[in-house]
Amino acid sequence: MYQILSKTELAQGTVVANEIHAPKIAAKAKPGQFIILRVNETGERIPLTMANTNEERGTITIIYQVVGKTTALLASMSAMDHLADVVGPLGRPTPIEKKGTIICVGGGTGVAVLHPITKGFKEAGNHVIAIIGARNKDLLIMEKEMKAASNELYVCTDDGSYGHHGFVTDVLKEQLEKHGAAVKEAVCIGPVPMMKFCSKVTKDFGIPTMVSLNAIMVDGTGMCGCCRVQVGDETKFACVDGPEFDAHKVDFDGLSARLTAYQKQEKEAMDAYQKKCSCSTEA
Ligand SMILES: Cc1cc2nc3c(=O)[nH]c(=O)nc-3n(C[C@H](O)[C@H](O)[C@H](O)COP(=O)(O)OP(=O)(O)OC[C@H]3O[C@@H](n4cnc5c(N)ncnc54)[C@H](O)[C@@H]3O)c2cc1C
Ligand code: FES
Repeated sequence: MYQILSKTELAQGTVVANEIHAPKIAAKAKPGQFIILRVNETGERIPLTMANTNEERGTITIIYQVVGKTTALLASMSAMDHLADVVGPLGRPTPIEKKGTIICVGGGTGVAVLHPITKGFKEAGNHVIAIIGARNKDLLIMEKEMKAASNELYVCTDDGSYGHHGFVTDVLKEQLEKHGAAVKEAVCIGPVPMMKFCSKVTKDFGIPTMVSLNAIMVDGTGMCGCCRVQVGDETKFACVDGPEFDAHKVDFDGLSARLTAYQKQEKEAMDAYQKKCSCSTEA
């Protein structure tokens, strides 16, 4: 169970895609849902979205950025290795229905999370305009897949090395000015500041907007309270009430503050892991 069938390095090796054998999860998973995995029996539990599922092959694909100890450990595993466990599908599926024109905006590894949602909206008969961005051309992921999943695709890079020179918010504003009220909904997924600024843009145009929140999670079942987020005047648990919420009600600043709560411990864990790796390479 949970064998890694393939490993592909994307974006200069900083982002990794793994296809994992998990037939029961693949059979049930819907766009917007995620899994929680442990690399080994003493490892921490980390949530990752299913960027793709293949029911026939009984597989799920995760795409993740190497940011700390557990993602580094995961990226160090080879095809044919086994994960200790994978729990899922977790979270509420994206409410997908035919509405008209939908704009899907993704930044960084958020594009991997956005991909199944974009595909779902197109398959439901919507006209889907996708806007994806990265810091530079080499860090851009899933352009080909997003092109296939949408009707129109716009690419942006912060440094202008590819596509529009600037942020996804610039193109989002242009598209909203062009299509106006024909746009029935926007979905924005990426780093918290990007989602916050996309949300400001769509609010000015009165377009209902959904964001997927990457709150810190532990159990993923609504028991620990770790993933709590403020949405309007309600406290929600991202794992069971989300991870998608009405962007115009989310307290993004509160979310950012909670995401940095364990920075000291995360750095210590990564330093210890890197020290262990360099010792075993030298030996
Ligand atoms: C529903 C959901 C879906 C996600 N999907 C993806 C995805 O598809 N691809 C991707 O690259 N990342 C995704 N993430 C973020 C991913 O879970 C974190 O990058 C990962 O847990 C980092 O662990 P680490 O040990 O490598 O890094 P650490 O050094 O431990 O942490 C680095 C940063 O990652 C975040 N983080 C740490 N632990 C957790 C945790 N248990 N839960 C959530 N965030 C944490 C914190 O912001 C932290 O500052 C998702 C998060 C959520 C909540
Ligand atoms: S992760 Fe524990 S309540 Fe959501």
